[in-house]
Amino acid sequence: MLAIVGGSGLTSFAELEVERREIVRTPYGEPSGPLTFGQLNGHAVVFLPRHGYGHTIPPHDINYRANIWALRQVQVAGIVAVVSVGGIRPDIHPGAIVLLDQVIDYTWGRVSTYFDNPDMPVTHIDFTVPFDNALRQRLRDAAGQIAEPMVDGACYACTQGPRLETAAEIDRLERDGAAVVGMTLMPEACLARELDIPYAGVAVVVNHAAGRGDSKFSISTAEIGRTLDQTMDRVRALIMASVAKPVALQP
Ligand code: HPA
Repeated sequence: MLAIVGGSGLTSFAELEVERREIVRTPYGEPSGPLTFGQLNGHAVVFLPRHGYGHTIPPHDINYRANIWALRQVQVAGIVAVVSVGGIRPDIHPGAIVLLDQVIDYTWGRVSTYFDNPDMPVTHIDFTVPFDNALRQRLRDAAGQIAEPMVDGACYACTQGPRLETAAEIDRLERDGAAVVGMTLMPEACLARELDIPYAGVAVVVNHAAGRGDSKFSISTAEIGRTLDQTMDRVRALIMASVAKPVALQP
């Protein structure tokens, strides 16, 4: 069973035929909400909106450890994470859907490991390639099937938020090699790796990053909302196509 972790604009999944909701307790506290189990396109999935069902939890307050632990507890075979981002690279514009291939973490003060207690002593996971290749291929195939012109390959810069960046900060992220910027992929991605859960990130570009394109002097939050509304149908179609293959449970 695949898990879908929804971001801004994806707090519910209309096409999901809901079977049950389950409150999962974890040693790390409460996840962002109950897990929603159901059938998507005829396949079992579990859905969790990381900002909560009412989009009330800001990026720095999300209990990432509880969310990923809860998904492990129900034995998901992989996680498709949907995140909204600003586009930095000149070919990445609002409305694009992007398959991520790398991450740079600029966040601070977020609890970002499970390996911090006597039961789970320090372990340095390999994170050279942060996303799962098989899951990425599944998403690529799905995009091909529905003729979605997904941008394949982009480095995600994870900032602390909740404010958006300055133009100079975006210049720096670009010099660092980032193609898109968001606030939520970390530590989610590395926590999934710590628990050996395959994880892939699909980014929805909702604005030009600060100082770029039509965000040269400011970022319009109204426009972010509009782009989200216009793009989410395509994101849901992509996810629906991507779950269409059965997923083998991990040993
Ligand atoms: N910066 C950071 N996070 C974001 C942005 C952005 O421009 N757009 C959507 N999430």
